[in-house]
Amino acid sequence: MPKLTIAIDGPAGSGKSSVARLVAQLLGYLYLDSGAMYRALALKALQESIAIEDQEQLVKLAKNTHIELQSPTAEQERSGAKNRVFLDGWEVTQAIRTAEVAQAASRLATVGPVREVLVAEQQRAGAGGGVVMEGRDIGTVVFPKAELKIFLEAAPQVRAERRWKEHQEKGDKIALAEVVIEVQERDLRDRERKVSPLVRAGDAVLVDNTAMDIEETARLVVMLARERDRELAKTLSEARGDA
Ligand code: DC
Repeated sequence: MPKLTIAIDGPAGSGKSSVARLVAQLLGYLYLDSGAMYRALALKALQESIAIEDQEQLVKLAKNTHIELQSPTAEQERSGAKNRVFLDGWEVTQAIRTAEVAQAASRLATVGPVREVLVAEQQRAGAGGGVVMEGRDIGTVVFPKAELKIFLEAAPQVRAERRWKEHQEKGDKIALAEVVIEVQERDLRDRERKVSPLVRAGDAVLVDNTAMDIEETARLVVMLARERDRELAKTLSEARGDA
């Protein structure tokens, strides 16, 4: 039985990364964080002082940039990293996790031709199946034929609090009110942009985890994956005419 492609989309703070990573571990799948690619490219644009409004330069930059995602080391994992991120061979796992890079990534992600370059990379990275990829457009654009699509949601205040806690754990001095605004701004931009906005795919299962923790949410997704697996096996066996 070929392994599934699982797409997990949702807004900032919905728990996508933690849930997707845990689901991948439980199923023995590869975990890929597509947002890390937008963040890495945004970091490079900031480093090279390329204005996020300069679409032509951004597309050139995207085409000339190599971003690689790898599994984190045990120590990185303990400090909350879910994917190791390399930008042109340099590790940027930590450097991309700032509020400044998050905002720049969200703005850069509104540029259609930049998305095309990154989407092609994501499709290549997840081509073999047996993958849990998370982002904003995985079920709608990157893998529209994914066997299981999850749309994760949670109340905006809860999502902002989760993000704030992450900042606190890293020792970042940032007020909760500031994080609430950052999350609201990104939500609005990610949901309302013209190209590949954050929307629930018609065939995605909506999971609201406002009152659920990461483990509970991941267990639910794993149950849905096993159910999907059984359905696919049944369809396959019927098509072969097995008894
Ligand atoms: O998931 P994240 O918060 O690390 O993503 C950072 C930004 O990248 C997010 O605000 C929007 C953009 N993004 C996107 O447009 N499409 C994706 N598949 C993943 C992220």
